[in-house]
Amino acid sequence: MARIEMESLNKVYPNKVHAVKDFDLMVENGSFTTLVGPSGCGKTTLLRMIAGLERSTSGKIKFDGKEVSALSPKQRNVSMVFQSNSLFPNKTIYENMAIGLQMRKVPKRDIDRKVRSAAEMLNISSLLGKMPNEISGGERQRGAIGRAIVKEPNVFLFDEPLSNLDAKLKARMRHELRALQKQLKGTFVYVTHDQTEAMSMSDRLVVMNHGVLEQEGVPLDLYDHPVSIFVAGFLGGSEMNFIDCVIKRTDKGLIAYNDDLSVTFPYSPELEKYIGVIVVMGIRPEHIKLGGETAFEVISTENLGSDSYLRIRRGALDLTVKASDVCNSVLVLNFAFPPEHLHFFDKITGKAIY
Ligand SMILES: Nc1ncnc2c1ncn2[C@@H]1O[C@H](COP(=O)(O)OP(=O)(O)O)[C@@H](O)[C@H]1O
Ligand SMILES: [Mg+2]
Repeated sequence: MARIEMESLNKVYPNKVHAVKDFDLMVENGSFTTLVGPSGCGKTTLLRMIAGLERSTSGKIKFDGKEVSALSPKQRNVSMVFQSNSLFPNKTIYENMAIGLQMRKVPKRDIDRKVRSAAEMLNISSLLGKMPNEISGGERQRGAIGRAIVKEPNVFLFDEPLSNLDAKLKARMRHELRALQKQLKGTFVYVTHDQTEAMSMSDRLVVMNHGVLEQEGVPLDLYDHPVSIFVAGFLGGSEMNFIDCVIKRTDKGLIAYNDDLSVTFPYSPELEKYIGVIVVMGIRPEHIKLGGETAFEVISTENLGSDSYLRIRRGALDLTVKASDVCNSVLVLNFAFPPEHLHFFDKITGKAIY
């Protein structure tokens, strides 16, 4: 398995779309790294450049320190699994898994051993004799993953492989893929637009925005310390609340206030130059707590079984709160905004202030 380095990588398509911009990233050997971001942000382009399916306009890609930019996908020995089933329809699952090795003239006995061992890992041993159209979508994706495994690649590349599966199967496959990666100790680069997938499976997350690497790191670090409104809003099952406030200094510390709200929190030097300026205060739905002095009208309740979310309003403020045991019939409730869970962003740049 290989470590991947990208240095000042750019991709400009002939139609002038700048799909990947000055990308610098190190993917550690044996790590599960996920590229995540909204549709069109350049994830597939970047993955295809790693694979060698797309030429980069400038910059370098290295596998274990060796530049691979001039090498074909075959020479790079990468395996790629796509969103939709890419199996040959007129071949059995066994033949589909074996075909890459047959082309490399690997001895039949070795092919057989490798195919059966991968099939066992993926729980599809009983399906090896079936044709792709005789099995379910989830089983076909396993077949495609099996084909990737038998190649014993330097790097596994996945482009939204679970997108076409139903929610339950998706959840199961998330666990299985993670377990598989651990078992193979493989370098996995996984692409998804789904933040739940990204948060739950990865060692490292790479959040992309319009071709730019917005933030990279351990999933929970990104969740707790987003560097921008973009990352803060993108990660999280229910979006962070963003509230325009002015910062004021008092003898008790700082106050963030607007017409409807006033929140006191400890002084921090980073906010000094924002005193008297409008900033964006962020707080996640699970961090707004019952209590305090500020009364809100409860507009609606969304009950998801394990969690429920309230929409609450006060003047021009419209917020989402995760509620554990709030009675549905209550119309007015007080809420508090614990200082330790507040985020502050520069309103103009969208970047976190601290
Ligand atoms: N072959 C291509 N030619 C021109 N533009 C492309 C091509 N492929 C992708 N793009 C553009 O590049 C941008 C990034 O696309 P893509 O990498 O597919 O994003 P994602 O996978 O994150 O949805 C988009 O604006 C898309 O329209
Ligand atoms: Mg894509």
